[in-house]
Amino acid sequence: MSTLELEGVSKDFGQGFAVQDLDLRVESGESVVLLGPSGCGKTTTLRMIAGFETPTAGRIAIGEREVVGARTNVPPEGRGIGMVFQSYALWPHLTVAENVAFGLTTTEGRKRLRRNRSEIATSVERALDQVQLAGYGARYPHELSGGQQQRVALARALVVDPEVLLLDEPLSNLDTRLREEMRNEIRRLQLESGITMVYITHDRSEALGLADRIVCLDAGRIQQIDPPERMYRRPATRFVARTLGQANALDLTVEEVGAATITARLQGADLVRLDAADAPDACPGDRLPVCVRPVDVLLDFDDPRTNANVRSRSFLGDETHYVIDFDGVDEPVRAIDRRATHHPAGSRLRLSVDETRISVLTGELEERRVDALV
Ligand SMILES: Nc1ncnc2c1ncn2[C@@H]1O[C@H](COP(=O)(O)OP(=O)(O)O)[C@@H](O)[C@H]1O
Ligand SMILES: [Mg+2]
Repeated sequence: MSTLELEGVSKDFGQGFAVQDLDLRVESGESVVLLGPSGCGKTTTLRMIAGFETPTAGRIAIGEREVVGARTNVPPEGRGIGMVFQSYALWPHLTVAENVAFGLTTTEGRKRLRRNRSEIATSVERALDQVQLAGYGARYPHELSGGQQQRVALARALVVDPEVLLLDEPLSNLDTRLREEMRNEIRRLQLESGITMVYITHDRSEALGLADRIVCLDAGRIQQIDPPERMYRRPATRFVARTLGQANALDLTVEEVGAATITARLQGADLVRLDAADAPDACPGDRLPVCVRPVDVLLDFDDPRTNANVRSRSFLGDETHYVIDFDGVDEPVRAIDRRATHHPAGSRLRLSVDETRISVLTGELEERRVDALV
């Protein structure tokens, strides 16, 4: 178990930066998930940590040891890394036990562990036990389900007692139910073994379920680093908000600025109060970009002071989804009603938002401030 530190890490394959100026410190025993759309630089980052790719600039340290920097470049097998890929990458002609032992048979692996044959067998058994595959050692990969094959890949990564475990979209090839099961399993394993883990995915439920902290990436750059609940509740930009779930990006107009509270209005809806600390430079008349989750949009079909119109409604069992046109606003608002309401397209209503659930998009305010300066 080690810390992992990336400082100013960049990678340019020759067509611009795939990863740009990444700073990240992962604590010992921490689970960090890099989350972002396809092509945002997740795999490149992981491959640089593992040593399969050399950064164009920057420094990476595992524990106290620099593994890549201005004058160092430790080869992958010397970095103390365990890695799991989306494709299980198992040898079809080797048994499960031989596949797992493969992690120990590299020169470096043996050197690190100084193990003889019976010790290898013990380690393999223990690793298979960890992933709940005790007794499967003599089988071949084709005799296992996809989920079991991925467990073998996980055991092979764990058998070397890695300093850091790296996983690249390991569940993408599994069906939904298995994916959820394996996700819980990986989290249990990580918590029990206290291993330092970097997990990459484009799937928000994996990120929310597995991470102590999520790193949200867009086009090779870090957008935000926060624990799951905080990132979900307080996204800095609409990109982060939408990466973690459905979100409405709305504009509020600031009416009054007090020492502790800002009062603002959402078009014809009620006044809302916000924490002044979220928008320290706000002045009356300013537009404030905020995010509101669809479940926090409140719909009142009985209030005669209507300010919105139902565009469409879909009944989904546990919830009803509405697309609402707010009077005078181009972009529709999405709302999720947990009550079974049945208001067809064209129905008038009064829309408001739960003010305790409004999140100021502080990253976008910051961008505006920078734009204003240049
Ligand atoms: N070996 C490579 N040569 C050139 N470009 C690459 C290479 N590997 C990745 N890229 C580019 O770098 C960007 C990031 O890719 P990648 O790290 O695989 O993203 P992700 O894993 O988030 O989908 C993409 O634009 C991709 O095309
Ligand atoms: Mg990838």
